[in-house]
Amino acid sequence: DLVAGLLATPASVSPKYFYDARGSELFGDITQLPEYYPTRTEQQIMATHGSAMAQQIGPVGTVIEWGAGNCAKACQLCALLAPERFVALDISVDCLQAGAEQLQAQCPAVEVQALAADLTADLTLPTDLPLERRLVFYPGSSIGNFDPPQALLLLQRMRALLGTDGALLIGIDLVKPVEVLEAAYNDAAGVTAAFNRNLLRHANRLIGSNFDERDWAHHAFFNAGRSRIEMHLKALRDVVVRWPGHTRRFAKGETIHTENSHKFRLDGFKALLALAGFSKVQPWTDAQGWYAVVLARP
Ligand code: AVJ
Repeated sequence: DLVAGLLATPASVSPKYFYDARGSELFGDITQLPEYYPTRTEQQIMATHGSAMAQQIGPVGTVIEWGAGNCAKACQLCALLAPERFVALDISVDCLQAGAEQLQAQCPAVEVQALAADLTADLTLPTDLPLERRLVFYPGSSIGNFDPPQALLLLQRMRALLGTDGALLIGIDLVKPVEVLEAAYNDAAGVTAAFNRNLLRHANRLIGSNFDERDWAHHAFFNAGRSRIEMHLKALRDVVVRWPGHTRRFAKGETIHTENSHKFRLDGFKALLALAGFSKVQPWTDAQGWYAVVLARP
């Protein structure tokens, strides 16, 4: 998958390759940056409207969090919903394991399970996981990493995990002034740039390539036509990259597309939810309308 993306012209790779141990740590640092509003805004919406959410959701048997990472958001949710079980899914195993252990210590009444999973592939949950009263929790606007057709597929797969009495609680980043959007992905401290370049180190380990981070510039901008932030790595000079069986030449200025982060309008997202088999949609937003946490039922 990675090799195919690197050999393509233009080259593009899935953002899931950001998340080795260092990448997950750098993402944690990003969430603390002054320019990166999504995590903080979502947190604020959860703090303000958490009890209303819990009331609407009702009793929960199992929370299933997609992309739980270091489980930082899980503890707060467990306090709100008091579920019996919490299943944390993530592609970054080290980060997940540490996070799940911490969560279990903080919330001893909840049975915590950590499951390594590539959420872009098919997902098999433990067969003994009850179907009743499930809540799929997908915070952080990670759904924004996917094109609308892929996002629809993902929502359909989440829908399939829920019985008739389940619910989806999902965070989405909304369209806002372009300066705010672009600053969030071009922070002054250069953490997002380091996060983007770290993908090359991860690739070196995965396929045995010899990318040199110093050959690549971070490039992030808002593509208004497609309503998404795009991140790319841009070759600062002519570069030859080798790995067993392959040579890939990049001309100076050539790019590797590493991420899309879609910014939604509430109406558009509601339409997507409806197509995926969700109705009864209730959104909560912040005062500026920058971000939404959406509850949807099958
Ligand atoms: C984890 C996908 C929600 O798109 O904002 C942060 C990842 N990339 N800075 C996002 C990210 C650059 C983040 N998501």
